[in-house]
Amino acid sequence: MFSRLAAVLVLLAGLLVVAEPQAATAAALGDVVPVPVSVQPASGVTFTLASGATISSDDTSTGDYLAALLRRSTGYALPITSSAGTIALLLSGADPNVGSQGYQLDVTATSVTIRAQTATGLFNGVQTLRQLLPPAIESATVRPGPWTVPGGRIVDYPRFAYRGAMLDVARHFHSVATIKNYIDRIALYKINYLHLHLSDDQGWRIVIDAWPRLATVGGSTQVGGGAGGYYTKAQYQDIVAYAASRQITIVPEIDMPGHTNAALASYAELNCNGTAPPLYTGTDVGFSTLCTTKEVVYTFVSGVLGELAALTPGPYLHLGGDEASATSASQYAAFLNRVQPMITGLGKAVMGWHNIGASGVNASAGRVVQFWGTTTSDSSVTNAVSQGAKVVMSPANKAYLDMKYTSSTTLGQSWAGFIEVQTAYGWNPGAYLSGVASSAILGVEAPLWTETIVTEDNIEFMAFPRLPAIAELGWSPWSTHDWNAFKARLAQQGPRWDVMGIAYYHSPQVSWPVTNRYEAESATLSQAAVATNHTGFSGSGFVDYANVTGSYVQWSVTSPGGATSLKIRYANGTTTNRPMDVFVNGTKVVSATSFNGTGNWDTWATKTLSVTLTAGTNTIRAVATTANGGPNVDYLET
Ligand code: ACM
Repeated sequence: MFSRLAAVLVLLAGLLVVAEPQAATAAALGDVVPVPVSVQPASGVTFTLASGATISSDDTSTGDYLAALLRRSTGYALPITSSAGTIALLLSGADPNVGSQGYQLDVTATSVTIRAQTATGLFNGVQTLRQLLPPAIESATVRPGPWTVPGGRIVDYPRFAYRGAMLDVARHFHSVATIKNYIDRIALYKINYLHLHLSDDQGWRIVIDAWPRLATVGGSTQVGGGAGGYYTKAQYQDIVAYAASRQITIVPEIDMPGHTNAALASYAELNCNGTAPPLYTGTDVGFSTLCTTKEVVYTFVSGVLGELAALTPGPYLHLGGDEASATSASQYAAFLNRVQPMITGLGKAVMGWHNIGASGVNASAGRVVQFWGTTTSDSSVTNAVSQGAKVVMSPANKAYLDMKYTSSTTLGQSWAGFIEVQTAYGWNPGAYLSGVASSAILGVEAPLWTETIVTEDNIEFMAFPRLPAIAELGWSPWSTHDWNAFKARLAQQGPRWDVMGIAYYHSPQVSWPVTNRYEAESATLSQAAVATNHTGFSGSGFVDYANVTGSYVQWSVTSPGGATSLKIRYANGTTTNRPMDVFVNGTKVVSATSFNGTGNWDTWATKTLSVTLTAGTNTIRAVATTANGGPNVDYLET
């Protein structure tokens, strides 16, 4: 009797316990990704951005960019002044070590000063300042602050000149808006090249005036048979200009002579047999080739490259050159020996996958080969380097963002292995390939192929947090390389991504700070039971839905308002998916989403939903929609 009463009291006490929100620790001066070269904190000094602050800038566009960013979330006027602002961006007085991309940041109790030799350097300094401000600075709506920055001096500059990301817009087409969002996100990590894979077997994504069917026919589908799409020249120029405003150079790729089915389907004359194959919506590689012995193919390539060069202020045209298994080695070399000079003749340098370093392919001035292999030695790379080429490092088993994180990742591929965050971070681009000196390494690039990547959320999930890991390899000195230090800094990016609405992978290798956690057992319940007869849940219990349609768990969430990601932790031991509807303030935001089986009632998974909350109190309700009830629910996090 007594022990039963005690048990009930313990249970009741447990119901009142809400897991304490683990406060995100205030940024220290070095809490930046990529980690800066030199950090000298000023002990006890902080700067707080106040409503009367002003901004001055020797570079108008960087000053405007910073002001726009800070005005959104602070609500302050932050006028641009010609006299020295509270935040001053100066193109003079920087430590000479900063070079053409680096910056010096000085934070005192009353001012923030970024000095650089170029607008690029100022922009990179602004990205560091952004990360030193609280995560709420990323909010699209006004937040209360305080907007505090740790005091001291940072002097910072990149290890490698080229720090790239690649998006495959051919396998699945991605809109201009999606690309702009990706540009904004990669800029935060000082990525300075975005390589767009504009053509492949499944799609041709850029208008070429002289060959209009490339876009209208070749662009008309994608993997899986969807509608595909293409960029008009105006849209493409808009992407190029938007990237430039973020100090990012677009590298356009037209993949050839293989990976060309979309072009071959658009123009019969590019095929050796003069017959256009059907459009292709599968995911095989290595079956297509331009007919390298036909003169019209060179007219075609020259026309395409000419129009592409006219849209490209950047230094590189990427000609692909990978997986040309349907082209003989001699024809491959002969083809490239005609195409490479077309690119240099247009005033651009050749970039290509490392296969273009094959013997028989001539050197080309300023050539860059992109290593995508899974080995640590490659004769095509060493051959190209011996001819003077530079190398961009994208080893597929380290840097490919389309590889699954683990065997249980739903999205992505695994032919190059699983790439958890520690694997993505754990290699040295300057000393990776035997026989290739670090002086030959131009930089790194993280490619995201999109055979399985359809939505913007898919892109975010695969890129974050691995893209910042690759960005740090490209920027930070090797002497700073330290997984434990990196993962602690990376964890602090999580709340920032939450505010930005980035649907990132919550890698269990990283201790992500929890912004707010609401335990299910302390929520309002209807027809659902609190249970403790399982393992692995947090708090004192979890909600075990009764077998009644309409059972719900309802949380009351206080928010500053705006785009927010909600994470619901649940377990579902059945193989049948158990759906829940999720309502925010009475509006259904997720309709009968399948909370997929986790394989075991003690195996918990987190589902992230992107929602918009109102300022103040929000009611969030998860409702079971089948007679079998819903999954077990552990907590909601914002
Ligand atoms: C590649 O992954 N085929 C470059």
